[in-house]
Amino acid sequence: MKTIILKKDKLKINQKLIKETINASKLVIFPTETVYGIGANALDPVAVKNIYKAKGRPSDNPLILHIACKNDVNKYARVIDEKALLLINIFWPGPLTLIFKKKAIVPKETTGGLNSVAIRMPDNKIALSIIKFTGVPLAAPSANLSGKPSSTKLKHVIDDFNGKVNIIVDGGSTRIGLESTVLDVSAKPFTLLRPGAISQAQIEKVIKEKIIDKSNQKILGKVKSPGMKYTHYKPKGEVFIFEGKVNQMVKYVNDQKSNYDNKKIIVICEKEYSKLFKVKTISLGSKLDQNEMAHNLFDALRKTDELKTDLIYIHHLGSKNLAYPMMNRLIKAAGYKVIKV
Ligand code: TXA
Ligand code: MG
Repeated sequence: MKTIILKKDKLKINQKLIKETINASKLVIFPTETVYGIGANALDPVAVKNIYKAKGRPSDNPLILHIACKNDVNKYARVIDEKALLLINIFWPGPLTLIFKKKAIVPKETTGGLNSVAIRMPDNKIALSIIKFTGVPLAAPSANLSGKPSSTKLKHVIDDFNGKVNIIVDGGSTRIGLESTVLDVSAKPFTLLRPGAISQAQIEKVIKEKIIDKSNQKILGKVKSPGMKYTHYKPKGEVFIFEGKVNQMVKYVNDQKSNYDNKKIIVICEKEYSKLFKVKTISLGSKLDQNEMAHNLFDALRKTDELKTDLIYIHHLGSKNLAYPMMNRLIKAAGYKVIKV
């Protein structure tokens, strides 16, 4: 298959092509404010199956419906709690996915067989305009092969999907760089299933109720969000999280280096620490700018593949603000492997 890559200024003149592609149950990759999504008509089971196939995603891991107008939530969600409505009014368009009981119009293929549906309205002009002119909600999981880090740059989606999707819309690098916060509002208390740029504290402030954080549960068997049980965000090399002081990690890594001549080690860290390590480092940006670090996180993980790395070391970033969703991704990338120093 030949993949057409469209620059964003060519979006308008290619509206018809994109619409026909979506109507034909085919795939279009587009940017959102969080990460790139691999999109298809969410109401079309054949189209949705094509997403699972292209990603190599297990079919019980449900997809998010992307809508372009807040009111459309009523078309797909059966019950909308008044507190959920408050969240919609405050945070949409934006990086908050809400889970509701679904209406029958949403096919089981889209929701991985569940009776609930995840919905969000992205805060990105390109995404909104594609949803509007195709006239259907777009199911769009993150545009990465299943198990790999999400895509935040055009290069990432080309690496994973060139020749496997019909169209890729180039939106440059995505603003936030971490996928949306996922909140289940289908029952009380609301539960956080995936942390993102919109924090638990921000949500609680709006609804004036406590929510339960289930995002860090390492559970086997029946899980609330099917996505939780699969490996995620993994580059080819083995990732390890270092707990303890950064200077202790520096000592550990620099001492170890001589014993590991045959293994290629890369440290991913804030730029302030880069020079301390005797091994190659990839900078996340300044430790004073969490937005920059989140923006660069998946790109850093993907770069280790290009550099053919065996061992990837990252120190624990803590849990304040964006460090919390970043660590949620990193601990999974590490398969929960921690080295205490
Ligand atoms: O920022 C984002 O959310 C990006 C962009 C493209 O919008 N999309 C994204 O989709 O991250 P995906 O499929 O990679 O992650 C969606 C997560 C998965 O962990 C999935 O299991 C969970 O949301 N999810 C979706 N529908 C659900 C449902 N009905 N119940 C529980 N969890 C659900
Ligand atoms: Mg994903």
